[in-house]
Amino acid sequence: MNKYITVHDDRFELYLTEKKIQTRVKALGKKVSRDYKGRVPIFIGILNGAFVFMADLIRHVDIVCEIDFMKLSSYGDAKISSGNVTLLKELNCQVEGRDIIIVEDIVDSGLSIDFMIRLISQHHPRSFKVVTLLYKKDAAKIRVPINYVGFVIPNYFVIGYGLDYAQKVRNLRGIYRLSDKRSDKLNKADKR
Ligand code: IMP
Ligand code: MG
Repeated sequence: MNKYITVHDDRFELYLTEKKIQTRVKALGKKVSRDYKGRVPIFIGILNGAFVFMADLIRHVDIVCEIDFMKLSSYGDAKISSGNVTLLKELNCQVEGRDIIIVEDIVDSGLSIDFMIRLISQHHPRSFKVVTLLYKKDAAKIRVPINYVGFVIPNYFVIGYGLDYAQKVRNLRGIYRLSDKRSDKLNKADKR
């Protein structure tokens, strides 16, 4: 696994190795299985970013479950959230009376998850929880309830394992971060 990679002239450093990610995802899968024993939850992945995490997570879940996907858009091709969340793909499953687990790759401003929570609540699920692989706690613009977190991370721009940079590099097996200085600059620009 390369320690450094360059994408669109930006240099990224390996931050979470494949092994570290897999160990954590396995633990999350086991925990969810224990918590939902005797129930049949529906995992709803948020496309595109969550597809890799979701695929690994559900294979560590050892209870009967169903899956579906929704697609939201907020980033466009930029590194900073635009703050506008729109729905690009609706749900196909029946949510009413079911145990719903939203699967996210990363919670940044919290706006996407907030949007999802409002949307799912309108359909009267029996229960509703959120699992995210990464949580940028300091970047939160609004407080959102997150039930399962893989890793709490600083305000870095990260790529790989489903996360993209202008739609590229989702296929990297590890997670890479933009160098401190560059992330810092971006975060300052974000606050303006
Ligand atoms: P939020 O609505 O600001 O919480 O952002 C949620 C979505 O933005 C995530 O599901 C990701 O798809 C994307 N995102 C947030 N931070 C990053 C990042 O550091 N790298 C790549 N995508 C990100
Ligand atoms: Mg996403």
